[in-house]
Amino acid sequence: MAETLKKLDDLVSLCKRRGFIFQSSDIYGGLASCYDYGPLGVELKRNVKNAWWKSVVQMRDDMVGLDCSILMHPLIWKASGHVDKFADLIVECKKCNTRTRVDHLEGHEGEETTHHEKPEVAAREDLSDKICPACETVGQFTEPMPFKLMFETRMGANADDSMKVYLRPETAQGIFANFSNVLNTTRIKIPFGIAQMGKSFRNEVTTKAFIFRTREFEQMEIEFFCKPGTDDQWWEHWKEQRMKWYIDLGIQPGNLRFRPHADDELAHYAKACVDIEYKFPFGQGDWQELEGIANRTDYDLRQHQRGIRSITKWFENKRDTEKTPLADEHTDWHKGPLSYFDDENRERYIPYVIEPSAGADRGTLAFLVDAYAEEEVRGEKRNLLRFHPSLAPVKVAVFPLVKKDGMPEKARAIYNDLRGRMTCFYDEKSAVGRRYRRQDEAGTPFCITVDGQTAEDNTVTVRERDSMNQDRVHCDQIKNYLQEKLDM
Ligand code: GAP
Repeated sequence: MAETLKKLDDLVSLCKRRGFIFQSSDIYGGLASCYDYGPLGVELKRNVKNAWWKSVVQMRDDMVGLDCSILMHPLIWKASGHVDKFADLIVECKKCNTRTRVDHLEGHEGEETTHHEKPEVAAREDLSDKICPACETVGQFTEPMPFKLMFETRMGANADDSMKVYLRPETAQGIFANFSNVLNTTRIKIPFGIAQMGKSFRNEVTTKAFIFRTREFEQMEIEFFCKPGTDDQWWEHWKEQRMKWYIDLGIQPGNLRFRPHADDELAHYAKACVDIEYKFPFGQGDWQELEGIANRTDYDLRQHQRGIRSITKWFENKRDTEKTPLADEHTDWHKGPLSYFDDENRERYIPYVIEPSAGADRGTLAFLVDAYAEEEVRGEKRNLLRFHPSLAPVKVAVFPLVKKDGMPEKARAIYNDLRGRMTCFYDEKSAVGRRYRRQDEAGTPFCITVDGQTAEDNTVTVRERDSMNQDRVHCDQIKNYLQEKLDM
């Protein structure tokens, strides 16, 4: 009977030991909340992103991709509401000065305050029994205050024309900013979506649990544009599609659930939002957000129509984005530059947007947690990662049983033949049992061993990771055998 992951620490140490994930700047003592993906981790995360792209772009007729720059015109963030509103409500402990997000404070019973997107709601929380996570003093906090989450930097070398710009806190706005570019350069018609994956940055007040909440992370986002009135139906469609994606890639359905947002939790742009949550092995409640699926209405495109009209004011304000007021909405807003003309029905409107927004790192963590298993095999402990084959960093490892009798040469020939089609690993060091264990821990679905019998009948042993069953396969059939089993 396999044991699943009990403590996140066990996974963290496996990730470090086997080269999945390292603390950033480790040799300098580390940089908090930043992580580097090692040789196995980079393959795993890339496979997660590729699986997402395949499912939401490659396999659909109504989706296209995009890859925007991280630095964008600062007015984009004014129009989106991030410059003025993208902040967490924090308190400072009067005793030790540690700042904590109001919704991350816990009481004696261990219950966290509810997350409130709207600061005015969070500000009403009673904090008298909440404990400072740093010094454990109870109820001694300053008044809640907003803490801005966007990272700022400056662009340009000349003192008089350099300006403040922001590292994007979400990839979504690059999609809205390119809505008309995509419309004008493709023949796509509404309903359609644009997908993008890439880095986002947030100066999070409290980071959490390994790669779960970090200050630099990758998002995989879709903005799906549809006719107003069809938005509820597309929201349901994407809820179902995105939940199915996690399950198809091997996450146990019992570890996933939908959590609808309460009205006072909704982001300023959302009409409705549901989170797909995963049962992570940390925190009080365990259930934590993996992905949000929001109905953003026509909010962003309308706001960007206002943003575009604010350019003159922005120059007048010496490009100070914070001081630039957003232009009023034009009375003919639904005919503005970001509107859509439906030539079949001869009508013009601003589309509504459904946004499934996932984290590539958070997803990778969920796939790692869910795949983790410990088993006892003939009195010995075996650690394994039961990844879905399409996510496994290495698909097949090739071994000679011993380093003689032509076995290494034959094993190398098989390895060289396979590596053009899939990620392979060659290993001839130590006893074969130990080599199997190392591959189990890396999540490699198949191991091929060249042994004494190979020279006689040109067959090899193919061992499957989870069942440890071994098949005898003719060398001419290895590719077909693996392609079928790996569903490639
Ligand atoms: N465009 C909408 C948006 O950004 P969000 O709920 O703030 O919505 C979407 O983020 C997803 O991005 C989250 O569900 C999570 O997977 C990931 N994410 C957000 N902040 C993160 C952080 N600090 N570290 C890691 N992943 C994060």
